[in-house]
Amino acid sequence: MEKKTVTILLGSPRKDGNTETIAKALAKGAEENGCEVRTLRLQGKKLNGCMDCRHCWATGAPCVQKDDMGEVHEAIAAADVIVFASPLYFYSWSAQIKPVWDRLLPFYAENSKIDVRGKKAVLISAAGDTEPECFGGLKESFRLACGYTQWEIAGEIYALGLYPKDAAANEGQKYIEEAYELGKRL
Ligand SMILES: Cc1cc2nc3c(=O)[nH]c(=O)nc-3n(C[C@H](O)[C@H](O)[C@H](O)COP(=O)(O)O)c2cc1C
Repeated sequence: MEKKTVTILLGSPRKDGNTETIAKALAKGAEENGCEVRTLRLQGKKLNGCMDCRHCWATGAPCVQKDDMGEVHEAIAAADVIVFASPLYFYSWSAQIKPVWDRLLPFYAENSKIDVRGKKAVLISAAGDTEPECFGGLKESFRLACGYTQWEIAGEIYALGLYPKDAAANEGQKYIEEAYELGKRL
């Protein structure tokens, strides 16, 4: 049987921060389970917002914009499982990862050349807040987006009470364990 491909999109500007630490645990579990894991650090990439120009596929590529989204589009198209790892920023996605959602539009355009429906999606998020309600907006966004994209939700990890960069590695062991176990089930 062919190896499953898990693509992890790291949406934090902090290298080795909380979402990344948790995502690494998921990657470890997935690799032990025989998956091929590919990780893309979004920070530092040029990822513009969607221009709503309605010229998807006009150049043969998903989008007419010449930025780094091409490699993200390729990674999503090649993945069986897409992991969105985003810190909670103002109750929502980080600016690094939000364009990925908006720029999915070409795959859902009438003239799409690539069908990405039927994939699996995972959300990993970390917040400084300790109240579960803080994730309400992000959770709703992720679930509605997966409904639209027709991606099956394979898991959601909402890590509370992690503010400093190394909090997951110190007090966040339960989230690391949760992510490792989720990775093993992918
Ligand atoms: C711009 C910004 C906005 C934030 N907004 C929130 C928020 O709305 N709620 C919250 O609980 N924490 C918020 N935080 C804290 C981060 O979510 C928290 O530090 C998280 O662990 C960062 O994950 P990372 O280490 O993967 O970057 C914010 C941090 C920044 C820098």
